[in-house]
Amino acid sequence: MNTRRILTWCRRRMFLVFVVALAILGVTQVLKRLTPTYIVYETNKVNTNFQNKKACVHPTLEIWHPALMTHFKKLPPLKCAEGVNWVYVRNGTFHVNESAVGSNNVTCAYTPVLRPKGEDFKTLLGTFIKQMRNGQPIDSDFFQAKCIAANGSTYENLHSGIAYREELHRRHLERHPPDNMAALNILMFGFDSVSRMTWLRNLPKSHEYFVKTLGAVVLEGYNIVGDGTPQALLPILTGQTEAELPEARRGHKGATVVDGHPWIWREYEKAGYVTQWGEDGQGYGTFQYRMLGFRDPPVDHFMRPFYLALDQQSRKHKSYCLRSVPRHVNMLNWVSEFFDVYRGKPKFSFLFHSEFTHGGYNELQWADDDLLAFLKHMKDSGHLDNTLLILMADHGARFQAVRRTVQGKYEERMPYFGLRLPDWFSKKYPDAMRNLRTNGERLTTPFDIHATFRHLFNFTSSVDVGLANTRGISLFHEHSSTRTCTDADVDPHWCACLNWQKADRRSDVVKAAASALIAAVNSFTQPQRDMCENLALADILDAVVYRPPTSMLQFKASADNDGRYADLSDKMTSTIELYQLTIVTTPGGAVYEATVKHDRSAADGKKFTASEREISRINRYGNQPHCVATRLPRLRPFCYCRKQT
Ligand SMILES: *[C@@H]1O[C@H](CO)[C@@H](O)[C@H](O)[C@H]1NC(C)=O
Ligand SMILES: *[C@@H]1O[C@H](CO)[C@@H](O)[C@H](O)[C@H]1NC(C)=O
Ligand SMILES: *[C@@H]1O[C@H](CO)[C@@H](O)[C@H](O)[C@H]1NC(C)=O
Ligand SMILES: *[C@@H]1O[C@H](CO)[C@@H](O)[C@H](O)[C@H]1NC(C)=O
Ligand SMILES: *[C@@H]1O[C@H](CO)[C@@H](O)[C@H](O)[C@H]1NC(C)=O
Repeated sequence: MNTRRILTWCRRRMFLVFVVALAILGVTQVLKRLTPTYIVYETNKVNTNFQNKKACVHPTLEIWHPALMTHFKKLPPLKCAEGVNWVYVRNGTFHVNESAVGSNNVTCAYTPVLRPKGEDFKTLLGTFIKQMRNGQPIDSDFFQAKCIAANGSTYENLHSGIAYREELHRRHLERHPPDNMAALNILMFGFDSVSRMTWLRNLPKSHEYFVKTLGAVVLEGYNIVGDGTPQALLPILTGQTEAELPEARRGHKGATVVDGHPWIWREYEKAGYVTQWGEDGQGYGTFQYRMLGFRDPPVDHFMRPFYLALDQQSRKHKSYCLRSVPRHVNMLNWVSEFFDVYRGKPKFSFLFHSEFTHGGYNELQWADDDLLAFLKHMKDSGHLDNTLLILMADHGARFQAVRRTVQGKYEERMPYFGLRLPDWFSKKYPDAMRNLRTNGERLTTPFDIHATFRHLFNFTSSVDVGLANTRGISLFHEHSSTRTCTDADVDPHWCACLNWQKADRRSDVVKAAASALIAAVNSFTQPQRDMCENLALADILDAVVYRPPTSMLQFKASADNDGRYADLSDKMTSTIELYQLTIVTTPGGAVYEATVKHDRSAADGKKFTASEREISRINRYGNQPHCVATRLPRLRPFCYCRKQT
């Protein structure tokens, strides 16, 4: 080989290496784009937890937390039976859908599905009507329809509606609300076992509409007070815990039905309201599974008989369907039907859906479009003009797999709970609305919801600062920022508030956290480095560390079936700590307060993370950022211009 050939060979080699290197670079760049390096938090606003020095600081949770992501996946759409149901109910009347059956002569028989007197676990079939006319009033809320078309094909299904009952339409004329009662309907719709994060994962469109278009307030510090659905619903509906109420547990000495509990819907009925309550999954009914249930119907329109009947014929339907209509849509329809039938009359409605979430994480996504459509329909038809609308859940997922992670333990304790009031209310009671928004970021509990319901019976424009050490405080009173779980009667192992401790400002870990913070601040101005100075640490003024509450980490499960005793034998530890730092930088003397996440288990270089929304500049920047102020206002707190005027 002569030198020339060797040289050419070398050049070719180098060219090849160059091409390969270029390719690798290209691929990593593309991969970098594909792998999101940012963290999606629940909200985009600045975290104000730390500035207010709140007694209870809840963790800022990530929507797509890796520990839980294995459980979440996108499902193909829910497919119910082909075609359109032949029968529907509108304004208390029976209809055959002409456009669905076409020119065929369809004849329908009607069998009422009733609740036997004094019986919460069976249904009774009422008088059969051989030929139900189109437009004929239904005489029971629930019925079985059997139809035959002239061509011989048949239809059979279970339906729900609101039958006309004159005494209920007259109730508001005969019973009068207290003088100061706020003229609001109550509409509360809930899903079983949905943390606020899971709601954002699975019902993003409904959440967005609820918050952005309707202006709802979602309670970000809403904390459960016990294990399971009754422990969430009893405090809301009665203001008391199960242990404080008369014994109603099956097989316990002296147990009686739950009729005597101080249900809030009774109070509303006394004030002239018509009431509606129901939940699916009758087999594990909230007040029937461990408890004796109701002797008499607890409300005017009680959906339990419908679900009992559905259970008996579930084999005739696809899962989650009533022929072509999804069951959750049927439930939502029953609410809007209630609002249609009693238009202009005071109403209390609470429906609770569990079929999607009782056993899994993903089916809930099937409800998003329908819940959104329901909200839009209720808004557009004017039903929300006089309504306190609540979307809620009782608690987060309680599955073992989730309870085995710290993130899961937080999520279980922090269900979704949001409230929306009509515009006129916000205008008439600006202080109450301001308090509600403030409380959206403070510790709140199911007892507070009960207190809010009670408050509406005697609602004046005067609002107070709620006493810190009271168990239930109306959300229209400002909750004290010093309120703790103990004040609110939340047991330590249910409390999701972080524990905080002063940290040593001179410790290596605090210094490392401060460096990460400076690096984050500098990274924002990096593209403008020709104009903005690179900042350095001048001093650390204050450092506090927040860690997950110990009792929460120790909580494994309830030690008994009734959720009254806790098994605190879990040995879970958390590798995540949050450092809240106050630092000064130079040049310019900017003071920043920020939260830096410390993950002790992460690889070096990834142990500390600071995100922009958790960094606030707490002294004035004045004219310091003049060189970018108009062009890049986002950089104002972070840029100290090289040329100062
Ligand atoms: C609904 O039905 C009632 C009678 O049951 C009737 O008075 C009312 O006008 C109907 N409303 C509509 C919108 O059809
Ligand atoms: C009646 O059937 C048509 C389709 O033929 C459907 O679009 C419509 O939603 C149905 N109406 C009701 C109330 O079910
Ligand atoms: C019979 O009529 C019903 C109702 O119009 C229709 O849905 C069905 O497809 C028809 N069946 C046949 C075999 O034509
Ligand atoms: C439809 O069928 C019913 C029962 O078979 C019958 O009484 C009625 O006359 C029929 N109507 C028409 C328009 O054919
Ligand atoms: C209504 O609330 C006011 C305070 O806002 C209180 O003074 C009054 O006693 C309450 N009335 C009733 C009937 O509870």
